[in-house]
Amino acid sequence: EDGGPQPEKHCGHGRGGMGEEVKRKEDQRFITGRGNYVDDIKKPGMLHCELVRSPHAHARIENIDKSRALDVDGVVAVLTAEDLLEYDLATMPTLMDDTQDVLVNDKVKFQSQEVAAVIATDRYTAKDGSQKVVVDYDVLDPVVDAEKALEDDAPLIRDDIEGQEDNHCLDWETGDEEATAEAFDEAPVTVKEQMLYQRLHPAPIETCGAVGDFDPGKDKLTVHMTSQAPHIHRTLFSQVSGIPEHKVRIVSPDVGGGFGNKVPIYPGYVVAAAASYVLEQPVKWVEERSENIQSTGFARDYDMQGELAATEDGEILAVRTDVLADHGAYNAVAQPSKFPAGFFNIFTGSYDIDTAYGSLTAAYTNTAPGGVAYRCSFRVTEAVYLIERMVKVLADELEMDPAEIRRKNFIQPEQFPYESSTGWNYDSGDYEKALDLALEMADYDDYREEQQRRIDEDDDKLLGIGISSFTEVVGAGPGKTCDIAGVEMFDSAEIRVHPTGNATVRVGVQTQGQGHETTFAQIVAEELGMNVDDITVEHGDTDTDPYGLGTYGSRSTPVAGAAAAVASRKVREKAKAIAANELEAAEEDIAWDRESGEFHVAGAPDRSITITEIAAGAYMNKPAGEDPGLEAVNYYDPPEMTYPFGSYIVIVEIDRETGEVEFEKFVAVDDCGNRINPMIIEGQIHGGLAQGIGTAMLEHVTFDDNGNVTGGDFMNYLLPTSMEIPEFETGHTVTPSPHHPIGAKGVGESPTVGSPPAIVNAVVDAMAHGGISHVEMPMTPDVVWEKLDEAGLSM
Ligand code: CDP
Repeated sequence: EDGGPQPEKHCGHGRGGMGEEVKRKEDQRFITGRGNYVDDIKKPGMLHCELVRSPHAHARIENIDKSRALDVDGVVAVLTAEDLLEYDLATMPTLMDDTQDVLVNDKVKFQSQEVAAVIATDRYTAKDGSQKVVVDYDVLDPVVDAEKALEDDAPLIRDDIEGQEDNHCLDWETGDEEATAEAFDEAPVTVKEQMLYQRLHPAPIETCGAVGDFDPGKDKLTVHMTSQAPHIHRTLFSQVSGIPEHKVRIVSPDVGGGFGNKVPIYPGYVVAAAASYVLEQPVKWVEERSENIQSTGFARDYDMQGELAATEDGEILAVRTDVLADHGAYNAVAQPSKFPAGFFNIFTGSYDIDTAYGSLTAAYTNTAPGGVAYRCSFRVTEAVYLIERMVKVLADELEMDPAEIRRKNFIQPEQFPYESSTGWNYDSGDYEKALDLALEMADYDDYREEQQRRIDEDDDKLLGIGISSFTEVVGAGPGKTCDIAGVEMFDSAEIRVHPTGNATVRVGVQTQGQGHETTFAQIVAEELGMNVDDITVEHGDTDTDPYGLGTYGSRSTPVAGAAAAVASRKVREKAKAIAANELEAAEEDIAWDRESGEFHVAGAPDRSITITEIAAGAYMNKPAGEDPGLEAVNYYDPPEMTYPFGSYIVIVEIDRETGEVEFEKFVAVDDCGNRINPMIIEGQIHGGLAQGIGTAMLEHVTFDDNGNVTGGDFMNYLLPTSMEIPEFETGHTVTPSPHHPIGAKGVGESPTVGSPPAIVNAVVDAMAHGGISHVEMPMTPDVVWEKLDEAGLSM
């Protein structure tokens, strides 16, 4: 009723509400070694599962001989597709309605695909047994490249789909093709660039795992699993197994990072649950690192052509893009069902561009399925990369300052709410303000001078300055447009205030390290005038938590965060009735004061009562006609998504002799609307920037022509360490979301989304005077040196 907190106004009631740097409640257990991850779960009589995986990328299975494995002392069972067929569990639906083998029934479609499962009394025996399963393969030619997969003579991968004659997976388009073509024909300036957003792996520290625990006494299946979306997983488990949903419980305990990798359902989960059901004993499956990289959901793999049409003074008239997407062996991308290319059509970015057109073709290849939203809102990362790279290409073509060209094309603050030419409704933004702050923090003008000096003096080290002024779209739903497997994308929060004045809050989203146990408590503390220490946040158990769609695409704050605020306000309404009773006043005379957190009689501030006193009243002295208790639940269907944004400026030094890139300065200015916990936000930004550096500089899942994953372990898939990460300088602006109950937008993925183009723009910028317009990621020294050489700048 008071419109919610205003920007930056509510820091410091001292109760740990909005804007306070409350230390993370969950860290107590994490830093004292008391976290409880799936692999920490031990059940009496628990068996262990090890999967037998195919060494080939494309092969027909001719025979599986289990006998030698079954001879191993301690091996209890060996399961193959044939066994699962008996229970109708041989296949499972993917999130995009494709059908994936749980264990390969006929033909292997990617290296490391699950072929058999060995169940044994301990993990080592299970592993020994798995090595004794003999599988006869008829090896077929694989195809691991999307372009080659679409050639006429490519081997057909999906012969299991009726009528499928080639490796074509889907086509998609957006925008106005004709009007865009016209704009390009008439434009005085056009630029074009081909760029690959390479295949990445989200690489959470904890790999995926599950403990299936069927209780024949209660006829109930509990699955403890590394899940970013426990409720939707419960629904899918029930649908696939036929076990009624109220007899399925998914528990997602502490999760050691998800980044989108723990959104899909993997065969290992299903096998652990099915084996437990059949054997009536708990069964644990935990994958190894290389299994995680080689078989679970990859991210990106978009080969994009970008084009911009502009005037000579840099006004962007149109944008066009064409994408070739690699979806792997199954269409298992994790995104709302109606969005086959995710939110890629936000490729007009932060700019007011009248005309846009995008098209995409996706192919099946003999590689693991994926296309998960790796710390990303469903392909917004690819879209941001495209537009932020293209703006730099255009700036270089026109010899314009890349800051200036952005300023010229930004959507202006007064244009919000803004509808983009591809149909997005941006809620709020002030892009120039964020850019100006970043430019100032980065000493932009001084570095431009220094850059020129080095060119003039033929310095051994080149300087490059890269900018990215990105806009994100986070917080899916609304339910009318966004659903997962048919379930609308809302989220939820339930608050129970106990008689002694403290509260339990349960949310439908699931933290994987983002600090939800702290920040959701802060929202409730703010809205109810409670102390943050008096609030416990629970999540990850479908038996107790309200239904929610899970945590990915930075949707927790925009959706479940909103639900927490609305549920708090419902509690506040009831609290007013109790306050009136306690203060012997009329209910309409009771006002709530955000500053003190107390309820008082209007015009008589000294006649006041705290939420703790009200809680006691709710259970011990309830007003006549009121139900006892003080609790509320809210299922929140967001009216729109939220659009956080930022400006990142990266300054790099490039060694002309070795191609090595060093970060000289890294500035990140973010705007996520009203901020719940600035310290947690800072942590989120640091982590995401590190991942952005990994993307730009190191990471790539690669394959050889035989379909072997050559980037399938941490020796070959290089993650950045503290050695590669520079000091970050962070700043922020605050542009609240007008439709969110507390004015907040998401933030978790902004740095991963926004930083790769800034880094690539910086490296390109250092070589632009040599005619270089693009450098492919990952920009390892050899890649950079080749470009230096091409530009005549190598030494
Ligand atoms: O969905 P996910 O938790 O990954 O992303 P998020 O909603 O962007 O939130 C990431 C973390 O930052 C959470 O702990 C949020 O509560 C916190 N956050 C914040 O303090 N203020 C905001 N305006 C947005 C997020």
